Amino acid sequence: MVDEKTYTLIDGRKIATQIKEEITQRVQELKQEEKKIPHLAIILVGDDGASQTYVDHKVKACKEVGFHYTMMRFADTISEDKLLKHIDQVNKDSDVDGFIVQLPLPAHISVEKITEHIRPEKDVDGFTNRNFGSIVSKNPLLMPATPLGVMELLKRYNVDTEGKNCVVVGASRLVGAPLSMMLVEQGRATVTVCHKYTKDLKSFTRQADILIVAVGKPGLITEEMVKEGAVVIDVGTTRVEGSQFKNGYAIKGDVDFKNVAPKCSMITPVPGGVGPMTIASLLLNTLRATELRNP
Ligand code: GUN
Repeated sequence: MVDEKTYTLIDGRKIATQIKEEITQRVQELKQEEKKIPHLAIILVGDDGASQTYVDHKVKACKEVGFHYTMMRFADTISEDKLLKHIDQVNKDSDVDGFIVQLPLPAHISVEKITEHIRPEKDVDGFTNRNFGSIVSKNPLLMPATPLGVMELLKRYNVDTEGKNCVVVGASRLVGAPLSMMLVEQGRATVTVCHKYTKDLKSFTRQADILIVAVGKPGLITEEMVKEGAVVIDVGTTRVEGSQFKNGYAIKGDVDFKNVAPKCSMITPVPGGVGPMTIASLLLNTLRATELRNP
C-alpha cells in the first residue's frame, strides 16, 4: 500500500503572501486618500549573519507592500548610551511610524533597557512591557509579532481553540509567555505552559489538542510525545551548520517533522511555517501603528 499524506501542511508562506497582498491593497488606498504611508525603521547592531538575513527579509517585505523603510546600522562596539540616544531620535522622528531593534544585541548592551526605551506606540515587534500587558487589555495596542503570527495561522486554517487543550512548550518573554496569554484571552483555550524545569514533558505534550513549541532545540518533540490528530505548530528556528547543506547551514525546527507529521491533523513545516508569519505580523503592526498615529 502506498503511504498517503493524511495531515494538512500549514503553509505560512501562502498565508503571509495573502496578508502582504491585503496590506499592499491598503497602502494603495492610503495613497488615494492622501494619508500617511507606513514607514518602518530597522536598527541593526553588529554583523551577525543570521540577523543580517532576517533584516534583509524585512526590508524586502517593506518593498513588496510599498512601505517606506530606513535601515540604521551600528558597529557592535557602540555603547548602550549611544544606542539609547539613537532610539530617542527615532522615537521623536514623526515620519517613522514603527521601528525594531534586531536581536540579539552584543553582550554589553541590556536588551531590556533598549526594548523598554522604544515608544510603545512605535514598538512594532510588540516587545515592550506595555505591549506585553496589552494582551490582557480591552484595547490592545501592538501585539507581540511572532505570537500574533501564530494566532493568525490558527485563525486562517480554521483551527478552533475554544476549550481546547493547548500546550505551549517554551516560556520565553518573546514567544511562549505572550502566546500562552493570547491563547487564553483571544483563543479561550485551556493552556499549559511547559519550560526547561518541567518534569516529564511528554506527559503534558501527549494531552495537547494543539501543541506549540518554541524552544530552539532541534528534534525535541518526537513521535511518542504527540497525541494522534493533534495540531502542531513549530516556532523553532535553529541554524544547524553542515557541509551537506546548500548554504553551509539549514534551519531546523523543534519538532521531528518526518516522524511526527503522520500523527497530526495539521502541522507547520520549518522553514515555511511560522517564520514568514513573523514578518507578516511586523508589517500588520507597522500598518496599525501608522493608522493609530494618523487617524
Ligand atoms: N531576532 C530574532 N527574531 C527577532 C524578531 O522577531 N525581532 C527582533 N527585533 N529581533 C529578532
